[in-house]
Amino acid sequence: MWSSPAATTGSANMSSSTNGPLFSATLISDSVKKALPESYTMRPLQRSDYKAGVLDVLKVLTTVGDITEEAWTERYDWMAKRGDEYFVLVVCDGSGKCVGTGCVLVERKFIHNLGLVGHIEDIVVNKDQQGKKLGLRIIEALDYIAEKVGCYKTILDCSETNEGFYVKCGYKRAGLEMAHYY
Ligand code: ACO
Repeated sequence: MWSSPAATTGSANMSSSTNGPLFSATLISDSVKKALPESYTMRPLQRSDYKAGVLDVLKVLTTVGDITEEAWTERYDWMAKRGDEYFVLVVCDGSGKCVGTGCVLVERKFIHNLGLVGHIEDIVVNKDQQGKKLGLRIIEALDYIAEKVGCYKTILDCSETNEGFYVKCGYKRAGLEMAHYY
C-alpha cells in the first residue's frame, strides 16, 4: 500500500506555506495521464487553482456561490491539513485552464478491520470539453488513488441520467441513496 510522505514526516499538510499540491502527485496514475488528449494534464488540486478556473468548472455541476480568494484559501488549507483524506484532482487544457475536476474522500472506519472507503464526489467536466473521455479519466484516476491508499471499495451517488456514465467507468448500482436536507 502507498505510504504518505506525511505519515513519515509527521506533517499532514503538503502545502501549508507554498503552492504545493493538495496530495502527492505520485498518486496520479501514469497510464491515465498518458491516455489524456494531447497537451492536457492531470494533477492534484493546488491553492492557485482559484485563478485557474476550478470554481467555474464546478458551476457546471451545481451552485457554487460567490467564493472570495480568501475564503477559497481558508477552505483549501483546511483540506490540506486533513492529510490523506481529501484527494481533489484537476484536468487542465494546454493553456493551463482547469476544465475538469473530481474528488475522492477517504473515510476511515472501525468496521471491516479499520477499513477505508472512498467516496467519489463532485465530478465535472466543462460543457465544451465533454465527450473527450475526460470524465472517464477522472474516475480512473480517482479509483487508482483509492486503491493505492488502501480503500477496499469506492462508492458514489448520482442521478439516473448519469448512471450510464458510471457504468462505463466500471461502477454498478448498489443500494439506495437517501438524503435529509437542512
Ligand atoms: N449517460 C450515459 N453515458 C454517458 C453519459 C451519460 N450521462 N455521459 C458520458 N457517457 C458515456 C460516453 O458516451 C462515453 O462512452 P463511450 O466510451 O462508449 O464513448 C463514456 O461515458 C465516457 O464519457 P466521457 O467522455 O468520459 O464523459 P465526459 O467527459 O463528458 O464526463 C460527466 C461525463 C462528468 C458526467 C460530464 O457530462 C459532466 O460534467 N456532467 C455535468 C456534471 C455532472 O453531472 N457530474 C456528475 C455528478 S455525480 C458525482 O459527482 C458523484
